[in-house]
Amino acid sequence: MSSLIIKALFPASELLEGEIRKVALPDGRHLALYNLNGAYYATDDQCTHEKASLAEEGMIDGDQVICGWHLCGFDIATGEAAVSPCSEPLQTYPVRMIDGILHVEL
Ligand code: FES
Repeated sequence: MSSLIIKALFPASELLEGEIRKVALPDGRHLALYNLNGAYYATDDQCTHEKASLAEEGMIDGDQVICGWHLCGFDIATGEAAVSPCSEPLQTYPVRMIDGILHVEL
């Protein structure tokens, strides 16, 4: 039986509209947190092409994050690889706001 882990991150007010923030998890993975027009999303931080950090090298364009290394585009909400050269999707994670604090479901 798998168990749901909900991890508290930081106050939502610290992630402004259009920003991406890299978050380290205790297991060594990193997530990218996005504020897309006031809605919050989380994906794996590592680009599925050649492992660039999307939080550090990427930028939001519409509803996609564009990787700065080779310009892959991923749908932020679904993780779908929308622009080549990427074909593998990003893992996405539900984000909740509880008492003003962003939480991610892992
Ligand atoms: S590493 Fe992201 S597009 Fe190549």
